[in-house]
Amino acid sequence: MKKSVKDIDVTGKKVLVRCDFNVPLNEKKEITNENRIDGALETINYLIEQNAKVILCSHLGRPKGEFNMKYSLEPVVKRLSEKLGKEVYMAKDVIGESAKALASGLKDGEVMLLENVRFHIEEEKNNPEFAKALASLADIYVNDAFGTAHRAHASTAGVADYLPAVFGFLIQKEIEIMGEALVNPIRPFTAILGGAKVSDKIGVIENLIEKVDSLIVGGGMAYTFYKARGYNVGTSICEDDKIELAKSLIEKAKDKGIKLLLPVDNVVATEFSADSEGKTVTADSIPDGWMGLDIGEETVKLFSEEIAKSKTIIWNGPMGVFEFERFANGTKQIAEAVANVTGITIIGGGDSVAAVEQLGLSSQMTHISTGGGASLEFLEGKQLPGIACLDEK
Ligand code: 3PG
Repeated sequence: MKKSVKDIDVTGKKVLVRCDFNVPLNEKKEITNENRIDGALETINYLIEQNAKVILCSHLGRPKGEFNMKYSLEPVVKRLSEKLGKEVYMAKDVIGESAKALASGLKDGEVMLLENVRFHIEEEKNNPEFAKALASLADIYVNDAFGTAHRAHASTAGVADYLPAVFGFLIQKEIEIMGEALVNPIRPFTAILGGAKVSDKIGVIENLIEKVDSLIVGGGMAYTFYKARGYNVGTSICEDDKIELAKSLIEKAKDKGIKLLLPVDNVVATEFSADSEGKTVTADSIPDGWMGLDIGEETVKLFSEEIAKSKTIIWNGPMGVFEFERFANGTKQIAEAVANVTGITIIGGGDSVAAVEQLGLSSQMTHISTGGGASLEFLEGKQLPGIACLDEK
């Protein structure tokens, strides 16, 4: 029960808002996905309406403690000004003269953005002096950076030691929707997990296996489960040191009466390449020298039927090598199946979000998380430092 921005009076106050403006940029420094900027607007607009003086901060990329204009937040300030319909002033530094001067001159309802907090090495070290310097710019701290809430950095956690600290509307939305699905799901509850490695998702599988009715496993990680079942996997990605774990998860699902669905057929190829010629084979007949790169049509049917029966879905990770058009079919069809569900559909960050967006299905989902690593840790049931640090109600 943490305090929200609505639980405090922000009128006329200087409010430091940590956003996650770590957006993807192309070579021309154009933002190629604006979800994280859009996600921050509600809190910023609320603070403007309340006549607060808004001091935004964020990281972008991993500049490793050096001032490097390649990682400047300039592209963000431009789009943000357009979206807010008012000028957002850009500081040339983070805690230096420019930031201090802009912050002290800010009028009620005005907005400014500090430069990339990771231009200081102290940020990622959660250095107390740096956190204190950030805090000295403001009267109140609002954390709305869900995507960075799993990091215990100065601007995401440390600063809360020096100011009244509350969460914004984006963090609230993320934890309410995903939290409700974890704690009190409308059943049947299905989790769809994909991506290359079991090791990346162990925590999520272990947490979700306690809660779901069905667990669908696709993508590269399915082949470790195949090996655990004694199938030949050819040259498919497989984590031999996770086979025992996969076996124990299969057993656990059985003991708990949870349906664990693995692909029944796969599109295989001899090379990991966009031009590889694929062919479909059943689960137990991947030939030597061939690797699984996508789920097959029978699997799409099987998974889609399970998805159609579900009332709550959490999806994290693609079903195949989605970046290669020839092996994107499984992920696309699963995205369509999830979009058709008339229940709660949550896309938990990463490549599955990219898939849903490319297919233009975003508006058909209940929630698309702005967190990658943060949503994974949330789904693992871990406490996020950026939320744990905030004031209790
Ligand atoms: C993300 O993109 O997942 C967040 O912005 C966190 O970035 P980081 O992994 O560099 O800490």
